[in-house]
Amino acid sequence: MRVCVIGTGYVGLVTGACLAHIGHHVICVDNNEEKVKLMKSGQSPIFEPGLSEIMQAAIQTGKIEFTSDLNAGVTHGEILFIAVGTPPLPTGESDTRYVEAVARGIGANLNGGYKVIVNKSTVPIGSGDWVRMIVMDGIAERKAATGEPVLAGVGGVAVTSHPEVEPNFDVVSNPEFLREGSAVYDTFNPDRIVLGSNSARAIELMKELYTPIVERQFAEDKSLSPVPVLVTDLSSAEMVKYASNAFLATKISFINEVANICDRVGADVVEVAKGIGLDSRIGGKFLQAGIGWGGSCFPKDVSALIHTADDYGYEAQLLKAAVTVNERQRLIAVEKLQQVLKILKGKTIGLLGLTFKPDTDDMRDAPALNLIEQLTRLGAKVKAYDPIVSQTGLRHGLSDVIVETDPERLADGCDALVLVTDWQQFRNLDYVKMGKLMQTPVVIDGRNFLDQEAIEAAGFRYVGIGR
Ligand SMILES: NC(=O)c1ccc[n+]([C@@H]2O[C@H](COP(=O)([O-])OP(=O)(O)OC[C@H]3O[C@@H](n4cnc5c(N)ncnc54)[C@H](O)[C@@H]3O)[C@@H](O)[C@H]2O)c1
Repeated sequence: MRVCVIGTGYVGLVTGACLAHIGHHVICVDNNEEKVKLMKSGQSPIFEPGLSEIMQAAIQTGKIEFTSDLNAGVTHGEILFIAVGTPPLPTGESDTRYVEAVARGIGANLNGGYKVIVNKSTVPIGSGDWVRMIVMDGIAERKAATGEPVLAGVGGVAVTSHPEVEPNFDVVSNPEFLREGSAVYDTFNPDRIVLGSNSARAIELMKELYTPIVERQFAEDKSLSPVPVLVTDLSSAEMVKYASNAFLATKISFINEVANICDRVGADVVEVAKGIGLDSRIGGKFLQAGIGWGGSCFPKDVSALIHTADDYGYEAQLLKAAVTVNERQRLIAVEKLQQVLKILKGKTIGLLGLTFKPDTDDMRDAPALNLIEQLTRLGAKVKAYDPIVSQTGLRHGLSDVIVETDPERLADGCDALVLVTDWQQFRNLDYVKMGKLMQTPVVIDGRNFLDQEAIEAAGFRYVGIGR
């Protein structure tokens, strides 16, 4: 099928490359010319395991193309994905201006054939109908500007605000659940696919698009039964995305709250989480206590849901509490450093990891940023080593932190280390050597990730979260 993906970030580029890999002909559109140039040369602008390989293979077979020309993409695609960012506004609402610009642009470039416009961006509930309206605005504006005659529509539903324009498209909500760091794997091995629309025609095309994935033709385990496809209305599909992220964030806040109680009563939250997680009604995933959730999705999606509830006269108390617990948790490492080192002014603290999770280069709303800010405010010098940030030299707007090129340079002269991101390689560093380079060999394990016995055997004082 002919597909256009607009916005080539973590979601759009992975979606485009994976759809090309399963045989569709994809044009990816981005308004960032530099990114487009990079992608045309076969390089991925983001770090995501396995992405460059499938991108390059698809370029070779001619299944994927990159452009900044929206008209080329819209003309090509029978299915048009909107996958631009929806960052948070200071009020907690989603900033939908990029989605709006793309929807208007689609309208301005829409040609005769029937199109399915798919919201893959995480957008506030009700955005499906809003996108339809903006696309209609775009069509009307173009027709007014060019004096084009009104074309007879083939499909879709009449929109009363634009009786002069007959739509020839439908809107589908198809929320994305991939996780950065395993995005390609997640796309080929999803737990479910959610499709929201009131158009049977659009849903049929979407099902056809995803058939190879639903049939697990590209899955790690091809013997599994087909991927469940939930077909529902637009608003419910949009809500599935917010409710999923809100649930996962709340689950982490829950175990962090339990960890803080464990700390006080002398229980070990790792053992407690094991005991809880063995209950099949609860499950063991997302029960790792630590320094809180962050990243580009959980904080903004939970805030946006709280905001939506508020708009409709409901106070989302549980979600607000999950956020409050998280805000406090993100500074728990500072509390622990103060307990061990007392005064932080004049001390040097080394952060192991900067990105919000391992196997990604994404620093958006990473807990490391709060830590750096707070430690600097308290007069400490902050150094950091991160496998991706140190290697790529990308600073992601980092200030007040010295980024070291290897773990030993990081340890040199430090009064304590804080493990911020659970990169696998941090388990196997030469802690004996690192400890000898430090002023005081202390490690705050912000993810309960290190082998406590091995760390203590290397001469460190080990402090976990809730242990
Ligand atoms: N990152 C994730 O793990 C994840 C997971 C699920 C859902 N989502 C949602 O998916 C959406 C995209 O997230 P992301 O992390 O991929 O964003 P991103 O910021 O990484 O990428 C957005 C891309 O859109 C491009 N863009 C912006 N305006 C454009 C325009 N007018 N025309 C063409 N391109 C334009 C930008 O240049 C950028 O490359 C968001 O709504 C997010 O909430 C993200």
